[in-house]
Amino acid sequence: WWDHVKPAPLDPINGVTEAFLADPSPDKINLGVGAYRDDEGKPVVLQCVREAEAKIVGCEFLESVSASVSSKLVEESVKLVYGNNSNVIKEGRFAGVQTLSGTGACHLFAEFQKRFYPESLIYLPDPTWSNHHNIWRDAHVPRRTFHYYNHNSKGLNFAALMDDIKNAPDGSFFLLHPCAHNPTGVDPTEDQWSEISHRFKVKNHFPFFDMAYQGFASGNLDIDAKAIRIFLEDGHVIGCAQSYAKNMGLYGHRVGCLSVLCSDSTQAVAIKSQLQQIARAMYSSPPVHGVLLVSTILSDPDIKSLWVREVQVMANRIRRKRAALRDSLEKLGSPINWEHVTNQVGMFCFSGLTPDHIDQLAREFHVYMTHDSRISSVISTPKGNASSLAFSSNES
Ligand code: LMR
Repeated sequence: WWDHVKPAPLDPINGVTEAFLADPSPDKINLGVGAYRDDEGKPVVLQCVREAEAKIVGCEFLESVSASVSSKLVEESVKLVYGNNSNVIKEGRFAGVQTLSGTGACHLFAEFQKRFYPESLIYLPDPTWSNHHNIWRDAHVPRRTFHYYNHNSKGLNFAALMDDIKNAPDGSFFLLHPCAHNPTGVDPTEDQWSEISHRFKVKNHFPFFDMAYQGFASGNLDIDAKAIRIFLEDGHVIGCAQSYAKNMGLYGHRVGCLSVLCSDSTQAVAIKSQLQQIARAMYSSPPVHGVLLVSTILSDPDIKSLWVREVQVMANRIRRKRAALRDSLEKLGSPINWEHVTNQVGMFCFSGLTPDHIDQLAREFHVYMTHDSRISSVISTPKGNASSLAFSSNES
């Protein structure tokens, strides 16, 4: 039956983890996957999660997630992206559903796009998170890329990006990273977002935001939602995928939200029912434990403010690690300009190392990173001993 099935190629991100795990060296270091770690290379459980856990103990009965818990998650999630006082929320002009983290939200949207705009394409930034390509490929939505990163300046290729928006057929779907762009760490400025939004308006493009790192760019959840708020003020119809994997450290719980703005609340009911129908065939209902944690954190004012502070602590620590890396490289006398390490924001640094460098680092020094030169600013070592690394800082 299965002789024709050949092994799938290694995933560009998970494949790095596999290579790291297979390396017997005690000194190996994983700069691959984007998962926040402490200075000992260990996963971090946020205090707000511990407090939410204490509150929900024994209350879930292991039933399927209830509509009220899912609705609470959606209600609180949309406030985070569109703002507490947003009219789209007051007027019920959005369709929102709980999803399997950001990946599930993107996939659900891709399936929805295919079902209701079967001829449409998706424009993805070049580069983007590698899984975006998998997701829209598997939903049978053809992909195009648009210019984003300038390899010479190690910043945004704004002029080329604007040209690509202009040259795409009217009414195209575009995926945008509203903050902490993965993998480059390069975000447009507020003025640039305004220009992008205006051009989208002229072209009647649909912006789909993948908000995987809210809080990780600036340390502030509202500032990191600024791009979306600009589009909102300009009256766009928007789609947004949210994930709590990074900013709540709930990687394994798969909690996310997909929201699609609508023209009125009647349309919202129709769209929500279609999204639920697609999800029903894929996985029936999402897992229950993580959503109880997230909805507890977001709806308890004390726990929420603890979370807001913890997000800021993580973002500040990442910033200090960037500064420490640049400082170490400069002190070591590297002739390369490393300004981009501190100019870029969020979890990732797009280092600019070549594939040969990256192979050599893995082979000779047991340092693992993705082949596009992305470095996760929070590292994982087998001994939990990160203190000797340039990318580690003693401050926490
Ligand atoms: C990453 O980019 O490393 C993260 O989003 C984790 C993943 O699943 O790829």
